[in-house]
Amino acid sequence: MKGVVFTEFVDFVETKYGLELVDLLFSNCQLESGGAYTSIATYDVKELLQLVGELSRQTDVSPSKLVVEYGRHLFRFFARTRASMMSHLSSCEELMASVENQIHVDVRKLYPDAELPSIKFERVSDLQSKVHYQSARPLADLAEGLILESVVHFRDPITVVRKDLPPGDGCIAEFVLTRNV
Ligand code: HEM
Repeated sequence: MKGVVFTEFVDFVETKYGLELVDLLFSNCQLESGGAYTSIATYDVKELLQLVGELSRQTDVSPSKLVVEYGRHLFRFFARTRASMMSHLSSCEELMASVENQIHVDVRKLYPDAELPSIKFERVSDLQSKVHYQSARPLADLAEGLILESVVHFRDPITVVRKDLPPGDGCIAEFVLTRNV
């Protein structure tokens, strides 16, 4: 997993809970890498989950809720810093349809060792579509936060319902996107 996912997580904790809590998390977690993250290096996802677990203990908010919130933060970061990847897109569905074959492909060109999920988009009808998440990493909550914030970004009148599927080849979840008329 790329360090950008960690550096932004630290930014998320600092923005939402303050620098003191960031310091406390690092001193309580004793991470293998020492936590000296740079955005281009690669880290084990376990370290992120360790920090999330400690943040959950400190705040009494469930790990799942924290990762969804963090996904929203990460989307806003991508929208700011990689705006050119999204400027030609005008809806949440268009974005979801382009993650697998365009956005994450471009990410892989920049970082050949990036660990990316599979994000499959399926149009069910004019009003409904599905996003299928599958990954070796248990980050469906992150996908949920990214999807929810993209709805806000495009100001789309869309309701998102998540269904967790039994783990098969990795961690799998499905998100049903419904346009409200
Ligand atoms: C401009 C938009 C986007 C950019 C620039 C982007 C880029 C990235 C990058 C750099 C990573 C980290 C790879 C690594 O850790 O090695 C990542 C991971 C991930 N991306 Fe994207 N992404 C974008 C949009 C999305 C969207 C819309 C989704 C929605 C489902 C998504 C789902 C994920 C998930 C869940 C991960 C975590 C890794 C995993 O679960 O296996 N991304 N993305």
